[in-house]
Amino acid sequence: MNLLANIRQRFLPVLESLGVPPQDYIGMIRPAQDKKFGDYQVNFAMALAKAVGKPPREIAQQAIQAARLDDLCDRVEIAGPGFINLRIDDRLLSRALGAAFTDERLGVPRTVRALTIVIDYSSPNVAKPMHVGHIRSTVIGDALARVARFLGHHVITDNHLGDWGTQFGMILYGYKHFRDEQAYRSDPVQHLGTLYRLIRQISDYHTAREELLRLERQHNDLENAIARSRAVGEPVDKNQKKQYAQELQRLAKKQDELAEEIASARKKIVAVEADPHLLGLARQHAQINQAVLEETAKLHAGDGTNLALWREFLPHCMGDIEKIYRRLDVSFDVVLGESFYHDQLQAVVDDLRDRGLAVPSDGAICVFLDGFDAPMLIQKSDGAFLYATTDLATIKYRVATWNPDVILYVVDHRQHEHFDKLFATAARWGYAGVDLRHIAFGTVLGEDGRPFKTRSGDTVGLAELLDEAERKAKAVLLDLQRDARDGIAADRIDRIASVVGIGALKFADLSQNRSSDYTFSYDKMLELKGFTATYSQYLYARVQGIFRRAQLDPEAIRSQVQPFVFAHPLERELAIMILQFSETLDEVLVDYRPNLLAQYLFQLTQTFFKFYVQCPVLEAETKELQASRFQMCDLAARTIKVGLGLLGIGVVDQM
Ligand code: ARG
Repeated sequence: MNLLANIRQRFLPVLESLGVPPQDYIGMIRPAQDKKFGDYQVNFAMALAKAVGKPPREIAQQAIQAARLDDLCDRVEIAGPGFINLRIDDRLLSRALGAAFTDERLGVPRTVRALTIVIDYSSPNVAKPMHVGHIRSTVIGDALARVARFLGHHVITDNHLGDWGTQFGMILYGYKHFRDEQAYRSDPVQHLGTLYRLIRQISDYHTAREELLRLERQHNDLENAIARSRAVGEPVDKNQKKQYAQELQRLAKKQDELAEEIASARKKIVAVEADPHLLGLARQHAQINQAVLEETAKLHAGDGTNLALWREFLPHCMGDIEKIYRRLDVSFDVVLGESFYHDQLQAVVDDLRDRGLAVPSDGAICVFLDGFDAPMLIQKSDGAFLYATTDLATIKYRVATWNPDVILYVVDHRQHEHFDKLFATAARWGYAGVDLRHIAFGTVLGEDGRPFKTRSGDTVGLAELLDEAERKAKAVLLDLQRDARDGIAADRIDRIASVVGIGALKFADLSQNRSSDYTFSYDKMLELKGFTATYSQYLYARVQGIFRRAQLDPEAIRSQVQPFVFAHPLERELAIMILQFSETLDEVLVDYRPNLLAQYLFQLTQTFFKFYVQCPVLEAETKELQASRFQMCDLAARTIKVGLGLLGIGVVDQM
């Protein structure tokens, strides 16, 4: 049962009868912040006072009378200027828990308005190994898909692979010029990876050399600008002084950024120049960047050799990626990469031109949009299509195939401009009825506050990240085992370490507000009593231990429900928390934020732990109380299990 939805339902006609738009006020009915005052709070009376022209306390009084809450609440109070505090009736609470207890869905109702939701996530560029940057899209998208499905929406998950871009030009070039036939035969995935990295390194070297001069010049100009400002000196006027300081700060920051770019370019140059063999290759392949583009263009134009090689490479590239998905327990309904759309792109451009939405500009084809400095490019002057063109074709295909209400793009926030333009164009193109949403997320940072890198400064491979998480989890488990009552069999420890390690990694990501950057830390993510999956998994496992020791089968007690009783305040608190699972899931989908579920699970675990410590089960005073507490343990543990499951995280029976 969704208590919040029920309460809101009761107040809906009240708002309607007051002649105000209910959607503006209904959100002001919420779970109480401070449990002292009750379980739920209605805070709209103050906001309504002006619109209705009555004092808020009077409105509150009228509202509670009209809402008819007798069967839901056993205490309704007006406090302060007009807050309404509601306390849920214990009998109702007990009944609702009983219903949740016997229900596989834990009493969570399915949505009354099922939407068709396409979720575009993970979507890596496939010729490169997956790295830490891919984890966020993959786990956030997966969690949203699981929650939406659980609530009864029709979900289509689509992995929009980058399987058609410049990175293939790179391995094509590498294969043609650098392959070691035997190495390729014996381990194609490994060898293609090596080729990719080699080409990348040489290509980066040349790019860095071209860029370095320009960067250094910019840095110099800034240096001069700062020196000039300093020479003029600080103004006397207080306001101008502040402006002056701000301007200097801005310039210094820009200078720092440039210095960083210069350092990174120099590093790329040094890396090649320090190795005579590499330097020789780089000199022999001075035109590599142009050549890579040409290989890509030939592939796109349907060149027989390149197309055949692409077909040969693709499964190898996918092999590694699929291994990661298996480890992460992530899967997709469809995997329609960029290549799937390549023969639809010309038609998209033509259609946009026919409708007058796209126009030629400097030889290229562009869509000009209000509110943007630059137009959206959909075809280059050499005929090549762009990322945006493919995304337009993708929208057309998705709408024709699934007729979705919503399409979510779980993609790095740095692509926001691309999506803003894409959505604006799509709306003009006739797709205004589809809710297109960029589910943006921030960067994963290392403990130094910079984008997470290995010690040597390389991006962190996703496979290595998972390995390390599992290794650390195993260490935590072995530590726990030292004073455990019943030991874990040696052959199970690796499996448990995997559930705990991967779970920790996912939770560390999902528990953060997705819009911000977050700092990655192996130690924090595995804290036994922290804001971690480990904490919930640990309590879950301990509760299974109680059942084992009591030789009780939770399945069996579920078939003979006893009344839930609230002898201790923590029992009531836990009961309310359990029932709020349903509300939380609704909230997750409002703005597509899995961290609300992670937070909920943390709070649930905290309350459950307090209950576990303070409310004895095996030594409960009466049989009735013991039965109720066993049920409470089982129900809370299952809520953790299902909740973590919706984040794509497993549980274990023993830790
Ligand atoms: N492959 C892209 C990248 O790695 C992400 C694709 C996201 N999805 C989309 N429909 N644009 O940046």
